[in-house]
Amino acid sequence: MTDLPTQADVLIIGAGAAGLMCASVAGKRGRSVLVLDHANKVGKKILMSGGGRCNFTNLYTAPDNFYSENPHFCKSALARYTQWDFIALVEKHGIPYHEKTLGQLFCDNKSRDIVDLLLAECREAKAQIRTRCDIQRIEPLEPQGFAVHTSLGKVLCTSLVIATGGLSIPTMGATGYGYEVARQFGHNIIPTRAALVPFTLNQRALNRQQELPGTSLAVTASCAQGAFQEQMLFTHKGLSGPAVLQVSSHWKEGMPVTFDLAPGLDLSDWLAEQRSNKPETSLHTALAELWSKKLVQFFLHRNGLQTKPLKQYTDSELRTVAEKLQIWTLTPEGTEGYRTAEVTLGGVDTNEVSSRSMESMKQPGLYFIGEVLDVTGWLGGFNFQWAWASAHAAGGLV
Ligand code: FDA
Repeated sequence: MTDLPTQADVLIIGAGAAGLMCASVAGKRGRSVLVLDHANKVGKKILMSGGGRCNFTNLYTAPDNFYSENPHFCKSALARYTQWDFIALVEKHGIPYHEKTLGQLFCDNKSRDIVDLLLAECREAKAQIRTRCDIQRIEPLEPQGFAVHTSLGKVLCTSLVIATGGLSIPTMGATGYGYEVARQFGHNIIPTRAALVPFTLNQRALNRQQELPGTSLAVTASCAQGAFQEQMLFTHKGLSGPAVLQVSSHWKEGMPVTFDLAPGLDLSDWLAEQRSNKPETSLHTALAELWSKKLVQFFLHRNGLQTKPLKQYTDSELRTVAEKLQIWTLTPEGTEGYRTAEVTLGGVDTNEVSSRSMESMKQPGLYFIGEVLDVTGWLGGFNFQWAWASAHAAGGLV
């Protein structure tokens, strides 16, 4: 590896999704670009994303798929660099992909394809990248620019881009450094919280569901303003699966979460119909058409329900049974936290950042892109689309 350059037009801290994208866009405009990362390799979260196949965007990306204290902020960047732009880039690199579900686009092969795409774009843009580089101190210069002191030496730059991501998965290199830099320049930080994260349950609840880890079912999970119809998965620590991850972004300590265990079905009507068609069939056999045997047993037991032939239930008994079985409300003990969360809610307050360029309104020449900002997407490729779009917006102007 060659020595660290002592000067660059644009210095980007963080060689993840947003940092690499920004480097390629700025480099192609003729800016000299240096990307620094403290980790031993670039794009670690991309590599582990989407179960190793990187869900790199979503066909239906829209501002409504993002959480922020300032919901209008993301609109401009998302409109100027869309999912179609990133898909075109993926196709330009000949990367095979497919839609898995709900507009979620995944690589056919490996997430590595997306990292290779970004590195190829950076090479074309002549952007330089250095890993294993610790940032020690950032010094603003007069009348403009910054001196960035690192473990590999000092670099002077005109524009400084913070692309250090969120707090999730510290073992992958995540740090709160971006928030520290923001605070250094007087920025407000919207309190951060682990999101897209499994729920943990108390020991009593875990004992009750000890036969179930690995079992999943379709549900509608609701909490506060959020409702998501997807799969829920029982785990050894509690509950996970897409429906749970999605609704976790709405959850705060002490809040109940409601699961409709037969989404799209009126269980009361359905049981009445079963009773007319198969009066001799017992309740648990009928329910086995909806859920696995283990789940039927668990749901019946949890509600203290006995099973008998359907013909023996009166209308009102059947309605009560249906009500108890269809809606499950519980209060999670907590979440698995940043150790397994996919993203971080909150971050650099977007009221103090330009939505056109991602430049700080407090410090000229300082930019924030990607997850470090208070913009958090739903599960399903939205977080990468935000990384690409915000990076593209900054890369065009740094
Ligand atoms: P990102 O985290 O990608 O990059 C930040 C970089 O900054 C890292 O390389 C880090 O090492 C570096 N850094 C941090 N602190 C530093 C410091 N002090 N000094 C120097 N460098 C520093 N999203 C999605 O849309 N589809 C998906 O399939 C998935 N899947 C997924 C799985 C898992 C397990 C996780 C944890 C996350 C996802 N995500 C996802 C979310 C997605 O990975 C995330 O939103 C983006 O990577 C954010 O891009 P950024 O570039 O902002 O941060």
